[in-house]
Amino acid sequence: MLTTLAGTRVEDLDTPAMLIDLDAMDRNIAHIAGTLKAAGVNWRPHAKGHKTPAIAHRQIAAGAIGVTCAKLGEAEVFAQNGVKDILIASQVVGPIKARRLAALIASTGSDVVVAVDDASNVRELDAAAGELGVRPRVVIEIDTGMQRAGTQPGAPTVELAKLVHSLPNLRFAGVMSWEGHAVSMKDHEVRREAIERSIGQLLETAEACRAAGLPVEIVSCGGSGTYLTTSKQQGITEVQAGGATLGDIFYRELQSPAEPALTLMVQVISRPTPDRIIFDAGRKTVDPTTRSPEVRGVEGVVGLGLSAEHGTLKLDRPNTEIKVGDRLYFDIGYHDQALHLHENLYAVRDGVVVGVWPTLSRGKIQ
Ligand SMILES: Cc1ncc(COP(=O)(O)O)c(C=O)c1O
Repeated sequence: MLTTLAGTRVEDLDTPAMLIDLDAMDRNIAHIAGTLKAAGVNWRPHAKGHKTPAIAHRQIAAGAIGVTCAKLGEAEVFAQNGVKDILIASQVVGPIKARRLAALIASTGSDVVVAVDDASNVRELDAAAGELGVRPRVVIEIDTGMQRAGTQPGAPTVELAKLVHSLPNLRFAGVMSWEGHAVSMKDHEVRREAIERSIGQLLETAEACRAAGLPVEIVSCGGSGTYLTTSKQQGITEVQAGGATLGDIFYRELQSPAEPALTLMVQVISRPTPDRIIFDAGRKTVDPTTRSPEVRGVEGVVGLGLSAEHGTLKLDRPNTEIKVGDRLYFDIGYHDQALHLHENLYAVRDGVVVGVWPTLSRGKIQ
């Protein structure tokens, strides 16, 4: 049914619709892939923002080794849709999930690597893997300054790594961390120093694992807000930057090289007064929490309001040109909190839909 929309002109699509400028996205993909290739580092893009196997396969075609996921449910979708190498960069905890992880590997044959930071969790993953006859690869997540999950660098990490390595049904594969605390540091020097400190701890701990006789093949880190610096740190093996594939105002304000590739197309549904425009997209279409979207080409906007399913533009002057039924186009504030609200993304080239891509892992929060 949806495939019949390929070839449709954008203005003939129904609204709200999330459009991807395919050429801009491909330029972003080429830029990230090229930067990491030049640095001799693998690219394992985080898929939590786009949630879309079609985009993952475009990244893989450009050189990515697989994807990073935040949730087991996301990993299930990507594995079932042909992604062979997946890092779950978070803990998979409890007997239900431990069994699901093992079953996923058994049923798809995908190499699903999981992050751990706790001995009891490691033992339950080992037990479930043993029951289903698989041997997942495991990395230790290290807290290198973000103060989220993760073991402390140095000895505590090496201890846990030794435990993983000693168990029959797990394969110790290395270490990961995410230097996310550096992203919002405005001063470039301060940000660079924080990234280097963070990655320094990751690399030193990787070395300590090697010194203890453990095989460290993965040293994974990095995101869209850090990869230009992170990828230059000698010794890391892969970078998880994902959001820079699509870009948005958030990344633009970080002075990321990512070109904004997304447009939210909405429709005006009411003009109650000359200084107010009501359109058909609210917080259930685009979440403004991290960064508000911005309308393009409307003069005198002094306020944007988003209720559940309505958007309101408040103007500082009367406007009678914009009519009910007209389309408006928004730049996305932070796409991580927008794309999962959409069933499909519309890939567009020269104003024509060339692909309708289901966001198959949206809602996969378990
Ligand atoms: C584990 C992990 N890696 C990497 C990232 C960076 O993701 P992105 O490149 O989409 O900003 C995040 C973002 O929250 C993350 O949680």
